Amino acid sequence: MPPSSVLVPTLLVCSIVCCLYPILLSSPHPTFHRSAISRELDSFVTQKLNLTALYPPEEPLPNPPLSDGHDTFSACLLVMDDNHRLIEWLAYHYHVLPLRYLVVAVDPRSKTTPTSILNRWREQGMYILEWSDRDFWKRKSPLRDIPDDAELQVKRDRHRGRQKYFYRQCLIHLKEENRTWVSLHDSDEYMVYNHAGGDKFREWEDKMKDRHSRSVHSKEVRIEPSKTPPTTAEEGAMIKYIRQEQEAGLEFYQSPCIGIPRLTFSAVETSTSITKGLAPEIASSFDLEQFDTLRWRKHAPRNDFVKNALGKVMIDVSRVDMKNTPMFRSLHRPIQSICPAPWHNDWSSGIRINHYLGSWESYSFRDDARRGFERSREQWEFKSTSSAVQDDDNVTPWLNGFVESQGLPKASSLLHNIGLPKHYRNEKDHRWNLLPDKLAKIMETDVTIANDNKMVAFDAFVREKYRNSSLRR
Ligand SMILES: *[C@@H]1O[C@H](CO)[C@@H](O)[C@H](O)[C@H]1NC(C)=O
Ligand SMILES: *[C@@H]1O[C@H](CO)[C@@H](O)[C@H](O)[C@H]1NC(C)=O
Ligand SMILES: *[C@@H]1O[C@H](CO)[C@@H](O)[C@H](O)[C@H]1NC(C)=O
Repeated sequence: MPPSSVLVPTLLVCSIVCCLYPILLSSPHPTFHRSAISRELDSFVTQKLNLTALYPPEEPLPNPPLSDGHDTFSACLLVMDDNHRLIEWLAYHYHVLPLRYLVVAVDPRSKTTPTSILNRWREQGMYILEWSDRDFWKRKSPLRDIPDDAELQVKRDRHRGRQKYFYRQCLIHLKEENRTWVSLHDSDEYMVYNHAGGDKFREWEDKMKDRHSRSVHSKEVRIEPSKTPPTTAEEGAMIKYIRQEQEAGLEFYQSPCIGIPRLTFSAVETSTSITKGLAPEIASSFDLEQFDTLRWRKHAPRNDFVKNALGKVMIDVSRVDMKNTPMFRSLHRPIQSICPAPWHNDWSSGIRINHYLGSWESYSFRDDARRGFERSREQWEFKSTSSAVQDDDNVTPWLNGFVESQGLPKASSLLHNIGLPKHYRNEKDHRWNLLPDKLAKIMETDVTIANDNKMVAFDAFVREKYRNSSLRR
């Protein structure tokens, strides 16, 4: 999901720049020809998957008894055709947080249902509610369906509205259910603590301190755990860790709304072996390339807000008067009075979110309303290559721990069908390319003049890409 508060200024800047466009124009670049683009797009290979066979329609199973809210996590999650990510997301958060109560809002434009996957976890002891818009979006007049060919802005507004209503109603509900910590992040995002755990902790701290002292941010306070943190292999590590640090008096963990920075992981393979850190029995039992948390280990520079975008939050609903909170205005800072500003810094944070771009097939799987605009083949290429400067493995041990606590047969069945089918390809699908007039505008000048660094960098990438390809011909 795009960070809405970044997007709004982006769009404003865009509309201003686009209006001024004829004035800002430098002479069109001589080597660029539109025909280069259409040739680039002519072969379009998308395989059809049998989605009914892959995710069979099922009725929700009855929920298990509620776990104790004090020792477990809850989550509010919006989904739309991301079952291929959901399988890993559920296993990871079930094990690491431990996630035991989940409220899912299914976008009405979905072509698949997550129920068959959620049922595995109901049987495993996770309490799961599946909500549709009617369940949380109470209005005087009924919500009308938005047609597929509606304006992007209409779809975007609907999506933003849905997010804000859903998160607020979900938090109110979870408070009534006597829950405590609730995470509010998407299915391509994984909550992890910011330090390597266990015996890797000291070595990691030293390495990071060294990097930190060489960086321009070295004057900022660097948070250190009060004692060695658990690794992600340990079941329920996150809640234990938070409690340990709360009790030690660390300021970061005291608020009922903790701000969590994100770190963007690119789609560039590392030279590190994918089996690194995994027990040999596990490495040989799973197709590790199907795991986002194992395959993608390179990330954008820490503290690069342009690449990592705004942070998210987790909220302890037991300490918040949810019903009297005002309507949420930003998902990155839902409750202004208790949540920190969302440009929270990685160095001063004990917890972070790993945000995975994922493979091209994974990124382009859903019929995203923003296709051709904020989400495009060009955006994916730009992000996949420009966010790959450092390696980080501290999420990896989770699979060892998960298999150890569930046993191999159970772990394998819970992770069955992880990722998209390996043969699936979605190549040169022109519907995912930047829209022709957007592209033409970028190509007609040499430099984009805008306040938005992300847009300037992206536009420069697009020019280089298409000028390269027209030079090659
Ligand atoms: C898709 O799979 C379902 C269930 O296995 C099957 O009934 C259906 O015929 C398949 N559809 C196509 C188009 O192959
Ligand atoms: C939540 O706790 C209150 C007070 O202890 C209790 O009355 C209520 O039944 C609990 N609600 C649920 C859903 O367990
Ligand atoms: C353009 O071509 C150069 C030289 O081959 C290459 O280094 C660069 O990565 C290309 N840029 C893009 C955006 O494809």
